[in-house]
Amino acid sequence: MPDAMPLRSLDRHPDLVRAATYAREIPAPIAAVWENVHDWEHLPWLHDQAFTKIALREAGAWGWHADVGFPGEAEADVELVIDHEAACYVARTRTDGMVRGETWTRLTRLADDRTGVEVEFLLPAMPAAARAQAGAAMVALYTGLWDQDAEMIRVREASDPARRAGPADRAPVALGAWSQVRASLPRVVEFGGARFVLALRGDRPVVFAAECPHWRGPLEACAIEDDGSVVCPWHGYRFDVETGRSRDGRGLRLRPAPRIELDEAADTIRLVASGNPEQV
Ligand code: FES
Ligand SMILES: [Fe+2]
Repeated sequence: MPDAMPLRSLDRHPDLVRAATYAREIPAPIAAVWENVHDWEHLPWLHDQAFTKIALREAGAWGWHADVGFPGEAEADVELVIDHEAACYVARTRTDGMVRGETWTRLTRLADDRTGVEVEFLLPAMPAAARAQAGAAMVALYTGLWDQDAEMIRVREASDPARRAGPADRAPVALGAWSQVRASLPRVVEFGGARFVLALRGDRPVVFAAECPHWRGPLEACAIEDDGSVVCPWHGYRFDVETGRSRDGRGLRLRPAPRIELDEAADTIRLVASGNPEQV
């Protein structure tokens, strides 16, 4: 079994051997892909098929080091160490202080909005057939992980505030007949140049930001929980849909939502700017 090795080493462990390689393109700028590499927090949320929990030990420009849980109650400590000059990084897994594997990834800028990803999986020496099988499993796993990352990056880039055009128009928005709107909920509505989720909470409509204030995760697909909160699918941050306040002490707040004007007798519903200066 490969021996211990100093933390943050940018050397390949001498006892590991290559089990497989994997290459693909991500249709996003390289800076967005590096942002994703630093983002340790999404592992058990976006990739919940592969990771069950993560507890950070430390992080910095050099990368991060965390205790990670895997399906089946396995645990390991994982460090991700970046070689900035070589534009590559290693994810190194240890249990009981011993290195169990390294995944080396190189990022290449192919164009302004295209990034090349080349991955090499290093595992302990084992018979050739077992190595081929383990390598194929790693390629299958990483194909799924990068698919999920690519989609998260795509959504984040598309929602970048800098790309949004035009000043906010805060005119009231008539949504139509309440009886028909009600049957279509939940749905996304626009107000003041931003996207909001209009959903039912019990019998009552509520409206809240469709974009997570952490890293712009999509809240439109989130079910409202019994306590009135939504949990972002990217990093698990929790928000109160009525007030927009954080429900997990993280100090972030949803973008202020407009006010709902519902007239059941007239069968109308519309969104209007809130009178509260803190709100839209
Ligand atoms: S984007 Fe990170 S928790 Fe929502
Ligand atoms: Fe990821």
